[in-house]
Amino acid sequence: MKAVYPGSFDPITNGHLDIIERAAGLCDELVVSVAVNIEKTPLFSVPERVDMLREVCAPYKNVKIDHFHGLLVDYVEGIGAQAIVRGLRAVSDFDFEFQMALMNKRLKPAVETVFLPAASDNMFISSSLLKELSKFDAPIKDLVPPSVEERLKAKLRKDNR
Ligand code: COA
Repeated sequence: MKAVYPGSFDPITNGHLDIIERAAGLCDELVVSVAVNIEKTPLFSVPERVDMLREVCAPYKNVKIDHFHGLLVDYVEGIGAQAIVRGLRAVSDFDFEFQMALMNKRLKPAVETVFLPAASDNMFISSSLLKELSKFDAPIKDLVPPSVEERLKAKLRKDNR
């Protein structure tokens, strides 16, 4: 099975990485794909997010990194994938994720959504919280891969100049 793990990944966290590692173990090929133009104002550009994902996912041989514009289901079908992977952190994620899964199913009945529960250690992580912590120089060492921590620090130093 070929599956897509979509998201904004602004930036990738250990929570995303846990889902990537487990999903990669379930499918033949996992495409981790950065969504362009979703209704968020990103800190990192799409090429920067793709670069970070490439660095961090290098050890997983069946994981590819990509980005996409437009509707997720069109992209999934276009690259010949059969499923969408999403992580669920808490009950609060469920409503929105369930709504998206049902809408995607309505648009393309052949594409399945597979949910993986986030590891309990990662339940509280979100990219926005990490960005906020970094702004105030709070430690984020155990929450993101080391290369992402460096990039976050560098980016915020530059933005504060
Ligand atoms: N561990 C820790 N944090 C996690 C996580 C995990 N396992 N999974 C998600 N998160 C966090 C992210 O860091 C992010 O935090 P933030 O809101 O502070 O940035 C948040 O949860 C949600 O992020 P993400 O999983 O990246 O999803 P998203 O909401 O940014 O993107 C898309 C959702 C891209 C899948 C969706 O918008 C989409 O499909 N867009 C394309 C257009 C389309 O087809 N629309 C119709 C949909 S029906």
